[in-house]
Amino acid sequence: MDNIRYDFEIEKDDFERAGEASSSIKKILRQLGLNSGIIRRVAIAAYEAEMNLVIHSNGGSIVIEIDPRKVTIFANDKGPGIKDVKLAMKEGYSTASDRIREMGFGAGMGLPNMKKCSDDFSIKSILKEGTFIVMKMFLKDGD
Ligand SMILES: Nc1ncnc2c1ncn2[C@@H]1O[C@H](COP(=O)(O)OP(=O)(O)OP(=O)(O)O)[C@@H](O)[C@H]1O
Ligand SMILES: [Mg+2]
Repeated sequence: MDNIRYDFEIEKDDFERAGEASSSIKKILRQLGLNSGIIRRVAIAAYEAEMNLVIHSNGGSIVIEIDPRKVTIFANDKGPGIKDVKLAMKEGYSTASDRIREMGFGAGMGLPNMKKCSDDFSIKSILKEGTFIVMKMFLKDGD
């Protein structure tokens, strides 16, 4: 199997289309016939990453790569960056506004869930530049 790559542009505050990229990713993995456990983890991680780009970033992209060994999700944005990544990774930490909380977001669980869903998780953030997340889910024989 050749490596497969899909790019999704995510726009800031675009609640109309929010969730479309992660739904498409889910469909792609289903069509590839990957097992439901892996699909579930990728879909959750991609959804949380997508929502964070919509809610907290100035826009960016979600890229998914599938190779015979793993699924990799890249979430990159154009800022504003995260001041304290260690704090942002804590369960329950959120800077979401009241308006965002009324929409059902802002539990402060997105980043911890992304990490939980990944076999390998890395996050790098540079203030004013952006946040760069790489998540890997390894495929086992039979996935
Ligand atoms: N891409 C990003 N750019 C800037 N800040 C971010 C980004 N992603 C997360 N953050 C910051 O990290 C905090 C924690 O993110 P996390 O996804 O865990 O929770 P949340 O988005 O606030 O709530 P939830 O994901 O549960 O709806 C956010 O409130 C925000 O301050
Ligand atoms: Mg979030």
